[in-house]
Amino acid sequence: MTDSKRTAARETARQYLEKDDPLGWFEALYRMGRKDPSLIPWADFRANPNLVRWLDDRAVPDPGRTALKIGCGLGDDAEELAARGFTTTAFDISPTAIDGCRVRFPGSRVRYVTANLFAAPSEWNRAFDLVVESYTLQVLPDALRARAVKHIADFAASRGTLLVITRARDSGDHEGGMPWPLTRGELDLFRHHGLTEVNFEDFTDTLETPPVRRFLAEYLRQGPRTPDPPNT
Ligand SMILES: C[S@@+](CC[C@H](N)C(=O)[O-])C[C@H]1O[C@@H](n2cnc3c(N)ncnc32)[C@H](O)[C@@H]1O
Repeated sequence: MTDSKRTAARETARQYLEKDDPLGWFEALYRMGRKDPSLIPWADFRANPNLVRWLDDRAVPDPGRTALKIGCGLGDDAEELAARGFTTTAFDISPTAIDGCRVRFPGSRVRYVTANLFAAPSEWNRAFDLVVESYTLQVLPDALRARAVKHIADFAASRGTLLVITRARDSGDHEGGMPWPLTRGELDLFRHHGLTEVNFEDFTDTLETPPVRRFLAEYLRQGPRTPDPPNT
């Protein structure tokens, strides 16, 4: 992904941030992207390779295990989770993105929902065995991130796992233009919400051009495992 492909997204984000509407630009960009998908810089129409790698290292989930994809965009990560056996829910604040998922994957087993992370359905609270957040926190401005972390953490069930993949920086580094890399300190906030860090990778992602620094962090909510649903 070159910076020139980010120009429209950055300009749209800037306009909405100026209006004090930090979430409005996603729908605006997806609407623009209906005519020209290349305007959506993260839409590469394949599952996130770092999510695929993480899933490859894990056992197939037990039947009925649930997954939630945060900010699912055009659906590739959610489809990957469903293909791996998770009963998958995926949401995005942009109704146009969710329409795009339904058009791209007719007959999908994924439940696609238009929802705002900051006002998600209450039945999602502590409801998911696996929660996947990739690249949403890094497009939220600083002022929203701590709240976003709390909402994301709250989706993980007892014994549930949260996987976070994000751009990374040191706290002394300038954050530069959107997407804004996170610091380790920002990710540590997940541990304030009942989660234990079980894996933390700080690596150079050479699958991106030019390569970028990323964090991949895995958290677990301690506690008794949610009982399997009764056979019907
Ligand atoms: C950088 S994109 C990443 C999309 C997808 N995860 C991917 O990697 O292709 C961030 C996504 O989060 C969505 N998003 C941003 N803020 C959100 C919010 N408050 N609630 C739900 N979705 C949000 C955007 O619409 C966008 O689709």
